[in-house]
Amino acid sequence: MLSIRSHFLNHFNDAPAFIVKSPGRINLIGEHIDYNHGFVLPAAFDKFIEVAIGKRTDGAIHMVAVDLGETILLPMHNLTPHATVWVNYIIGVVDQVLNTENNVASIENNVAKIKDEFNGGFNICVQGNIPLGAGLSSSAALECAVLFALNELYSLSFTKMQMALMAQSAEHTFAGVHCGLMDMFASLHGEKNKAILLDCDSLAFTYYPLALNDYSIVLFDTQIKHALASSEYNTRRLECEQGLKIIQEKYPTVKTFRDISLEQVEDCLAFSINSTNEMKEDKLQDKTTKDNTIKVYQRCKYVVEEIKRVQLAVQDLATGDMQAFGKKMFETHKGLSSLYEVSCLELDFLVEAVSNNVNVLGARMMGGGFGGCTINIIKKTAVEEITKELSAKYNQAMHKELAMYITSIEDGTHVEEETHLVV
Ligand code: GLA
Repeated sequence: MLSIRSHFLNHFNDAPAFIVKSPGRINLIGEHIDYNHGFVLPAAFDKFIEVAIGKRTDGAIHMVAVDLGETILLPMHNLTPHATVWVNYIIGVVDQVLNTENNVASIENNVAKIKDEFNGGFNICVQGNIPLGAGLSSSAALECAVLFALNELYSLSFTKMQMALMAQSAEHTFAGVHCGLMDMFASLHGEKNKAILLDCDSLAFTYYPLALNDYSIVLFDTQIKHALASSEYNTRRLECEQGLKIIQEKYPTVKTFRDISLEQVEDCLAFSINSTNEMKEDKLQDKTTKDNTIKVYQRCKYVVEEIKRVQLAVQDLATGDMQAFGKKMFETHKGLSSLYEVSCLELDFLVEAVSNNVNVLGARMMGGGFGGCTINIIKKTAVEEITKELSAKYNQAMHKELAMYITSIEDGTHVEEETHLVV
């Protein structure tokens, strides 16, 4: 495989100014609660996107996606969402830098010069090994890589948190997914062998050493691409907002899901649902209202439970009780599957298949859902055998190949050392 530097040289007949590497993320626990003001516990892992970048002067962005063999040239200005998906992750963050007045204005030195140079455009080559559509945040890694590279190239002085927030906005506006902050945050802030507890309300974060000793974090990839994922993702977000509003009407002091108890969820949203989850007919206006009310109740119940669960899981991590931690991962999966309804047959199958295995501490679907990976904490000595058995079972039941990745936890987005070496 040719290095990204060589690709850049081949395409642009010039050496890149920087090569930036940005990892994908895993998430130990705290799923679908970043956009609900909860806590998440992600880490950057050993799959990454790398970009090589260099300045231009003609106001164009020349983009090369090495793995796809595609090249696109666009003017720097009046950027709008593009039909080619990967392009949006690049121009989305450029748009952020160009149009977030406060961002550019916050650069103290040489504002005019920087703006002028930035307007000149740039060349960029991208390649990576994060499986696409597998819930491992390849898009966030690309956005963060590009933003970090631009930050270096033009001395823009953005902090990592500013860049995470800008990349999140880019995803909203150019990719149309109303995601939370977790993926970008983790890609940028990752540290070797540490998980990061992010408080998605205050944006304060704490690093936790991951002492897994005899255990490994293993991802099993359903190889199902989440086609439903973005539309259903946005729907979940809306359902949660709807539930929050209903609860706030009765409890005006509630600001976010962080302030809500399960009793309040029951009180405000389960008023017409009996124990079998069937709504009493007299409260119903029509079937759609009924379905929606049940859904809103289920989503909110999950969110409130998951917020509590992560707080307890972090205590397990601090005391080294990985058995208890793993148990909570299984509980999270149950909630994601039956209440939040973002799992799928294949993910449920993979979690169920390891649930009674003494060598598996915990397993659950990870990321947005509707395909992608499960995350598992497995005894190192048992990984090979479990993978072999699971692959055979999965293949037989789902007629699909199972992919697996044994992960190591790595540093976040950074300039690669060999940047200034000459090939
Ligand atoms: C996707 C989003 C994240 C987060 C997860 C679910 O990865 O990009 O912001 O919401 O789904 O936890």
